[in-house]
Amino acid sequence: MITAIYPGSFDPVTYGHIDIAERALRIADRVIIGVLNNSEKTPLFSTEERVKMLQDTVGKKYPDIKIESFSGLTVDFAKEMGANLIIRGLRAVTDYEYELQMAQINYKLYPELETTFLMSNIKYSFLSSSIVKEVAKYGGDISHFVPSVVEQKLREKL
Ligand code: PNS
Repeated sequence: MITAIYPGSFDPVTYGHIDIAERALRIADRVIIGVLNNSEKTPLFSTEERVKMLQDTVGKKYPDIKIESFSGLTVDFAKEMGANLIIRGLRAVTDYEYELQMAQINYKLYPELETTFLMSNIKYSFLSSSIVKEVAKYGGDISHFVPSVVEQKLREKL
């Protein structure tokens, strides 16, 4: 039985994240999205807001995907969830170094937990939460990048 966690900041969730979550369901029996509650980063959206946007998008479409928040180490969250797999999306070669470092550290911390990468759909290979926030800040059209509920939340926030 494969229980996968898909951890991230999701500040906010984009179509790229949704695509990875959907495809994670094809490999794992259970998928749990973990929203990092990180006191060192200052996200635009609170943890509760980020969880809610995921519930309103991914959660509505895929009720089997659980959405949780976590603090601390991803490996500890994985243990708590009884997970044996971490899923991460890879958009381009620029993601590789950071992802490799995280995967290796996580493996050292908890060797029973594997990391697997899903190549982002080419449609979303340029997409990131940061870029979406920047475009939204200057009034650009973000409707191709995020679901309408997220678009609305971004407009309210900015
Ligand atoms: O969406 P992001 O910001 O790229 O996700 C990064 C995340 C949350 C996966 C990463 O920062 C993380 O795992 N943070 C938890 C702290 C941790 O476990 N650190 C050790 C691995 S680098």
